[in-house]
Amino acid sequence: MSTQNVATAETFNYRVVRQFAFMTVIWGIIGMGVGVLIAAQLIWPDLNLPEYFTFGRLRPVHTNMVIFGFGGCALFATSYYVVQRTCHTRLFGGILAEITFWGWQIGLTGILVTLPLGITSGKEYAESEWLLDIAITVVWVIYAIVFFGTLAIRKVKHIYVSNWFYGAFILTIAILHLGNNAELPWSLLKSYSAYAGVQDAMVQWWYGHNAVGFFLTTSFLGMMYYFVPKQSGRPIFSYRLSIVHFWALAFTYMWAGPHHLLHTSLPDWTQSLGMTFSLILLAPSWGGMVNGILTLSGAWYKLRTDPILKFLVVALSFYGMATFEGSMMSIRTVNALSHYTEWTIAHVHSGSLGWVAMISFGSLYYMIPRLWGRDSMFSKRLVEIHFWVATIGVVLYIASMWVAGVMEGLMWRAIDNDGNLTYQFIQAVTAKHVLYIIRFLGGACFLGGVIIMLVNVIATIRSGKAVNPDVPAPVADKVAA
Ligand code: HEM
Ligand code: HEM
Repeated sequence: MSTQNVATAETFNYRVVRQFAFMTVIWGIIGMGVGVLIAAQLIWPDLNLPEYFTFGRLRPVHTNMVIFGFGGCALFATSYYVVQRTCHTRLFGGILAEITFWGWQIGLTGILVTLPLGITSGKEYAESEWLLDIAITVVWVIYAIVFFGTLAIRKVKHIYVSNWFYGAFILTIAILHLGNNAELPWSLLKSYSAYAGVQDAMVQWWYGHNAVGFFLTTSFLGMMYYFVPKQSGRPIFSYRLSIVHFWALAFTYMWAGPHHLLHTSLPDWTQSLGMTFSLILLAPSWGGMVNGILTLSGAWYKLRTDPILKFLVVALSFYGMATFEGSMMSIRTVNALSHYTEWTIAHVHSGSLGWVAMISFGSLYYMIPRLWGRDSMFSKRLVEIHFWVATIGVVLYIASMWVAGVMEGLMWRAIDNDGNLTYQFIQAVTAKHVLYIIRFLGGACFLGGVIIMLVNVIATIRSGKAVNPDVPAPVADKVAA
C-alpha cells in the first residue's frame, strides 16, 4: 500500500469532463428523439417524409447517435473523471483531451449530416465513410495517448479495476475500427470494403458483436466498478472477482460474433464455435453483475431514498437479463425463432436502455454536482421522476417487442396440414401494429426522462460554479478516490 504524501498544487482537468458530460445529454436527446421518430414511422408510414428522412436513412442516424454520441460522450466523460481520480493525477497531455472533445463532436456532426444524405459504407454501426473513419481514428489515437499516458504518470502504484475495463475498451475499439473499415476509397464520398462475400459478413459481425461487447458492455462495466461503490459507500464486494471477471470477459467476447450469422452460409463449425462461446459468456457476465449487486450488501436500505442508486441497481439487473437472453438467443434452435424478429430489437433495447442508458444516468447524476461544485443535483425529486419515467418506458418498450417478436416468429413458421404457410407476411405486420404503438409510447416516456434530466442539469449548472479541485495526496492504494 502506497502512502506517500505528495502535496501538489496541480488541479484535476474537470473542464473536458464537464464538456463531455453535458454533450452526453444533448446527443442522448438527439439520438433517442430520432429513435422515437423511426418508431412512429413504423406505425404511420406517411411520416416517411422526403428521401432524407425515411426510415432507411434515419435508422443508422439513430444507432450512431445513441451509441457513439450518447454512449461515447458518457464514456469519454466518465473515463477521464475516473482515471484522474483513481490515479491521483491530472490528465496527461495538456490540450490533447480538449482535442478529443472537439474532434469527437465534429465526427458526430459529420455522421449526422452524411447519413441522411445517403453517404454510407453500408456496414451496420460503421456506416461512416472513409474520410470520417480516418478522422475518428485520429481522435481515438489521441484518446489512447491521454488515457494510457495518465495511467503511466499515476501517483499510486495500483491500477484501479475500472481503468482495466476502460483500457480494454479503448484498445479493442481501435483494433475493430481499423479491421472492419479496411476499404478502398472510390471517390471522396464512396468506398468499398476490402473483404468480399461471407468473409465480409464475418469481419462485419466480429466488429458488430465486439462493438456491443466492448463499446456497450466492457466500458460501461468500468463505469459500474467506480460509481456503484462510490454511490453506495461500500467497497466492491470482491476485488478478486472483478479481475477474474475482466479477463474472462475480454477473452470470451472476441469469439462470439458468429451468433449474428446463424443459419447463413458461414461455415457450420464457425457457427457452432460462436454459439459455444456465447453460452460460456454468461458466466463472466453474471459474475460481474453479482459482484455489482453484492456491493450493496449492508447498503440496501439506501435504495429507499436514493434515486441515483436506483438507476445503478436497475442497470445491473438489466445487464443480467440482457446477457442471459443473449446467451439463450445464441442457441441455434432459439435463434431460428428469434432471428429477424422484434425479439432481437427487444434484446437490443433491454441492453441499451436498461443497462447502458440507466448506468450512464446514474453515473452522470453522481458526477455532475461534483463538476459544478454542488453537494447534489438541483432537484432530487426530478431525478426520482426521471427514474420512474425511464423504468416505465423501458418496460413498455421491451415487453411489447418481446410479444411482437415471438408472435411474428411463430406466425412465419406456422403451416397447415398440407404444408402451406398459414399466414401471409403482411398478416404478421398488421398483427404487430398495436404493439408498435406501445413501443412508441415507451420510447416517448424514455425520451421524456432525458428531457427532464436536461432541465435538471441546466438548473444545477446555473446554480453551481465550475470547479477544478486539487489532486488529492494518495492515501491508500485500492481505494477509489
Ligand atoms: C452474454 C452476452 C450477450 C450475448 C451472448 C448476446 C447475444 C446476442 C444474439 C444471439 C443476438 C441476435 C443475433 C441475431 O439473431 O441477429 C444479439 C443481438 C444483439 N445484441 Fe446481444 N448478446 C449479449 C449481450 C448484449 C448486451 C449487454 C447488449 C447491449 C448493451 C447487446 C446488444 C445487442 C445488439 C445491438 C444486437 C443486434 C445486432 C444487430 O443485429 O444489429 N447484447 N445478441
Ligand atoms: C427513446 C429511446 C429509443 C427508441 C424509441 C428507440 C427506437 C428504435 C427503433 C424503432 C429501432 C429500429 C428497430 C427496427 O429496425 O425494427 C431501433 C434500433 C436500434 N436501437 Fe434504439 N431506440 C431508443 C434508444 C436506444 C438507445 C439508448 C440505444 C443504445 C445505446 C439504442 C440502440 C439501438 C440499436 C443498436 C438498434 C439496431 C438494432 C438491430 O439492428 O438489431 N436505441 N431503436
